[in-house]
Amino acid sequence: MKSSNTVWHQATITRQQRETLNGHRSVILWFTGLSGSGKSTLSHAVEDSLHERGCRTFVIDGDNVRHGLCADLGFSDQDRVENIRRVGEVAKLFTEAGVITLTAFISPFRVDRDRVRNLVPAGDFIEIYCDCPLEICEQRDIKGLYKRARAGEIKDFTGISSPYEAPQTPELVVQTGTESLEACVTEVLTLLVNKGILPS
Ligand code: ADX
Repeated sequence: MKSSNTVWHQATITRQQRETLNGHRSVILWFTGLSGSGKSTLSHAVEDSLHERGCRTFVIDGDNVRHGLCADLGFSDQDRVENIRRVGEVAKLFTEAGVITLTAFISPFRVDRDRVRNLVPAGDFIEIYCDCPLEICEQRDIKGLYKRARAGEIKDFTGISSPYEAPQTPELVVQTGTESLEACVTEVLTLLVNKGILPS
């Protein structure tokens, strides 16, 4: 920490009071997977369903955050570590604000995801692996980035020239390459019901 002469100020309104007001617990739904694996699509679709049920939600999206909060970061290993560290801290603040926070970042490194997991109380970090084979992501190539990465125009591209470490024990694996969006949304909502975050 560079800022040493600081003193923590305790909020008078607690997280629990905010959760009571909202009528639901706040958690982090951490979507991880390759570029084009469907993290953004799925997280927004889950948010739609949660919003319809009257939940307070927010999606923090990788591509969007890189336009602002993380506009100074690129895709080196070091920059990705810092990207996930910042997003983890922001997600933690959102949970303290009582919000169900959905994050959609490649977050390729296991140790970085685990660091975010350990930032919040046990059970508040729900890791959802969007398991879509590289071949399918590359075939879809919605943003045209895989083609450019293969051509050597984009360096350090996840899955091509930069690693992706799949989660070993995520709370949920969704087969976003083969299952429908609706089926994936249902799996996430079922998990939230089973964990008592949503009423059945
Ligand atoms: S992360 O690795 O730091 O978690 P993040 O989710 O923020 O990545 O950003 C990934 C998005 O940035 C991709 O979906 C893609 O649109 C874009 N992108 C641009 N360059 C790269 C790259 N070298 N590797 C991966 N994604 C990239």
